[in-house]
Amino acid sequence: MSKIAIMGAMPEEIEPLLAKLENVQECIYAANTYYQGEYKGKEVVVAYSKIGKVFATLTATMLIEKFCCDALLFSGVAGAISDELQIGDLVIADGLCQHDLDITAFGHPYGYVPEGEVCIPTDVNLRNIAKAVAHEKGLKLKEGVIATGDQFVANPERKEWIGQTFKADALEMEGASVAVVCSALNVPFFILRAISDSADMDAGFDFDAFLESSAKISADFILEMVDRIER
Ligand code: ADE
Repeated sequence: MSKIAIMGAMPEEIEPLLAKLENVQECIYAANTYYQGEYKGKEVVVAYSKIGKVFATLTATMLIEKFCCDALLFSGVAGAISDELQIGDLVIADGLCQHDLDITAFGHPYGYVPEGEVCIPTDVNLRNIAKAVAHEKGLKLKEGVIATGDQFVANPERKEWIGQTFKADALEMEGASVAVVCSALNVPFFILRAISDSADMDAGFDFDAFLESSAKISADFILEMVDRIER
């Protein structure tokens, strides 16, 4: 039977998930807490990684290698790049890139290292499930590139640059790490974010104000998806 990993970066991103799990067992591994439980009879493992690419890489790897999850869904918040995205709106990644990966000195494009790819695609089947949920619930769901980097972006010029360089619609700090791990290990993955800020001068203030509410919007949607994933 399949086991679904649901990952966030911060406690606020997984708390709405934990509130709805049954038969929860906590397990500490590699300096992180993993919550094994059930949602509507399906086996899930939930964890938050802590912020940033390195911690996200560690947690995604553990969810697959130690907890034997065979699909990974990420739920959390993001900064908007696209003007179409307002606070609280949902965005799913069709692909993820690392906006802070730079060996352009050697003639490579931004976000590229040899034997890697600039933009890693997410699982089409999981994206289709998300679209079906959005359709059924009458929710707006934008699909686009999400750019990841070890920076909280609160700067209009940086945001503009990331948007233009990677054709990205939103930015955050973990998604591309999950993408690297899951594509290397051949595990289907999906990245959902609800907008908490617009990566501009007000981003720090907006993030604090909307982290909790946007994280819940994302978590509630993820649970609807879990309900629809075939065992
Ligand atoms: N996650 C949510 N908002 C963000 C921002 N402005 N920069 C990086 N990650 C974010």
